[in-house]
Amino acid sequence: MRVGFIGIGLMGLPMAQKLVEAGIELVAYNRTPEKLEPLGGVKIAQQPADAIIGSDCIMLMLTNASAICSLLLSEDAKPHLAGKTVIQMSTIAPNESMAIAQEVIAAGGEYLEAPVLGSIPEAQSGKLIVMVGGTEAHFERWRDLLQNFGTEILLIGEVGSASAIKLALNQLIASLSTAFALSLGFLERQGASVDIFMQILRQSALYAPTFDKKLPRMRDRNYSHPNFPTKHLLKDTELFINAAQGEGMNISSIEGVKKILEIAITSGFADADYSSLFSAIARDIS
Ligand SMILES: NC(=O)c1ccc[n+]([C@@H]2O[C@H](COP(=O)([O-])OP(=O)(O)OC[C@H]3O[C@@H](n4cnc5c(N)ncnc54)[C@H](OP(=O)(O)O)[C@@H]3O)[C@@H](O)[C@H]2O)c1
Repeated sequence: MRVGFIGIGLMGLPMAQKLVEAGIELVAYNRTPEKLEPLGGVKIAQQPADAIIGSDCIMLMLTNASAICSLLLSEDAKPHLAGKTVIQMSTIAPNESMAIAQEVIAAGGEYLEAPVLGSIPEAQSGKLIVMVGGTEAHFERWRDLLQNFGTEILLIGEVGSASAIKLALNQLIASLSTAFALSLGFLERQGASVDIFMQILRQSALYAPTFDKKLPRMRDRNYSHPNFPTKHLLKDTELFINAAQGEGMNISSIEGVKKILEIAITSGFADADYSSLFSAIARDIS
């Protein structure tokens, strides 16, 4: 079996490395070719079509749906999708995933969405949670391959359903982190003990492990070496807002979160860790 891997970014690199470690033949494409260097002896595709031709399946780990369409559904690439399975792992909206699925199927290919929960450390250690949207037959066929990324490979339902769960989870990342940052910033202003606050919080039903993960970064204003950049959390927040708005929901809480993320981004934290939203809340930046 040969896998064409398109998108060797922060997540694509450790995921592609997992496949290489498992002895799977890989051909990799990335728009910025320098990012392919850490992959060592892997075959390099000069164009997306070179990663599709001769591969049984094509995995995508790209920023958004527009990047996916420009690489996978271009006039050069699309005709080669016949007989191939596309496994789309980026975070995109359910309707975007369904539209891409239709195009792939019309070109004679098969399509599964498989967004992941977890970040670079989980990708490196093979502990991502993989949520699959597609048919049961496709899920069974590709489950072993996906197991290289994690032990929890879950069939959620039809295409679109896994993307919906992924967006719902990322809405929580954005909202929980913002809520935590607001409490932390408030305590800093009040001069009250953050250590005692954390001691109480850790014992309470309000606690989420992400709070302790982000606490040192927020206290030190250290947003370097991101696992998940602020610009991608804004992207996912916007995807969630659009999808929830389409369902007629009251989205005012997450719209407030979006404004905070926008301040972080216009202040230069687009490529920094998303805990930079703390600086927008604490008004280090405005
Ligand atoms: N980082 C995480 O913790 C995490 C966790 C779960 C899911 N995700 C999702 O996984 C996806 C990838 O995230 P990441 O963190 O790996 O992001 P990243 O480091 O920014 O990588 C994005 C990839 O997309 C490519 N790309 C973007 N726009 C393109 C375009 N117009 N044409 C061609 N290539 C384009 C980039 O190519 P270049 O290298 O040339 O820029 C790069 O390979 C996103 O959907 C993200 O939301 C991320």
